[in-house]
Amino acid sequence: MITLQGRKALVTGGASGIGEATARLLAGLGAEVVLADRNAAELPAAAGRTGAAAVTTGDVASEADAERMAAEAAAAMGGIDLLMNAAGIGDDLMPMHAQPVDRWQHVLDVNLRGTYLMCRAAGRRMLAARRGAIVNVSSIVGLGAFPGRSAYGAAKAGVNHLTQTLGCEWGPLGVRVNAVAPAYTLTPMVRALLDRRMFDPDRIARRTPLGRMAEPEEVARAAAFLMSDWASYITGAVLPVDGGWSVYGAAGDVARLPGPED
Ligand SMILES: NC(=O)c1ccc[n+]([C@@H]2O[C@H](COP(=O)([O-])OP(=O)(O)OC[C@H]3O[C@@H](n4cnc5c(N)ncnc54)[C@H](O)[C@@H]3O)[C@@H](O)[C@H]2O)c1
Repeated sequence: MITLQGRKALVTGGASGIGEATARLLAGLGAEVVLADRNAAELPAAAGRTGAAAVTTGDVASEADAERMAAEAAAAMGGIDLLMNAAGIGDDLMPMHAQPVDRWQHVLDVNLRGTYLMCRAAGRRMLAARRGAIVNVSSIVGLGAFPGRSAYGAAKAGVNHLTQTLGCEWGPLGVRVNAVAPAYTLTPMVRALLDRRMFDPDRIARRTPLGRMAEPEEVARAAAFLMSDWASYITGAVLPVDGGWSVYGAAGDVARLPGPED
C-alpha cells in the first residue's frame, strides 16, 4: 500500500477543495501536514477536517509570504519533504479584447507566480536534503484552448512548463516535480460557477468520456500517488485527471454509437 509515514507535507490552498482533500488524504497516509492558505478564517476548521498539524496564512503570490509560509511549515515539522501547490483562482470567462490587464495579471500572479514562489521556497529545503516531491495543480485549460480563459490557460500552461523544467533541473538532485491536470472538479470554486450558470453540467458530462465531473478526492489520490515512492521514477509529468477530456477529439455527441445492447 502507498504510505507517506514520516513525510512532512506542505499543502497550499489547503483550506478548501482539491487542497483540502489532498491534505486529508496525505494525513490519512501517515504524513505530517501543514496547511497554507490566504483564508485565515477557514484554516482552523480545515485543519480539524484534514488532521493537519499546523496552519500558516498568506498569499502565495507574495514573495515575502511564500518564504514565510515555507519557513513556518519547515519549523513546525522539522523540514518539508512534500509540497502540494493547490492554491489557485479561476477567471471570469472574459473575451480577451475586453479584459483589463490587471485582471489578467492577477490570475497569472496567483496561479503561476504563486506556484513558482512556493516551489522555490519549499524546493530549496528539499534540495538541501536531496529528497522531496512536489505536485503542482494545472488544469485541462492548460492543455488545450478554452475561449474566454486566456489568463487562466496561460497560467496553467506555464505551470506545466515550470513542472517540466523543474523536473529536469531538480531530478539529478533528488527532488521530483510533477503536476496533475484536473478537469471540472466539484469543489466550492466550481459549485459557485455552476450556481451562477457559468457552464452547463450536462454538456460537460457529455463531453467527458467518463460521463461526469470529478470529485476532489479523485484528484487528491493522483497527487498522493505522485508524491509517494510508488512514483519514484516519475518526474516532469503532467498527469491529466480528467475522465478522458484531454484525449477526446470528436465533435461532442453529434453521433451516437451503437452500445453493447444494440
Ligand atoms: N475545481 C476545478 O474544477 C479545477 C479544475 C482544474 C484545476 N483546478 C485547480 O485546482 C486548484 C484548487 O482549486 P479548487 O477548485 O480546489 O478551488 P477552491 O477555491 O475550492 O480552493 C482554492 C484554495 O486556494 C486558496 N487561495 C486562493 N488564492 C490564494 C492565494 N493567493 N494565496 C493562498 N491561498 C490562496 C483559497 O483561499 C482556497 O482555500 C486551483 O489551482 C485550480 O485552478 C481546479
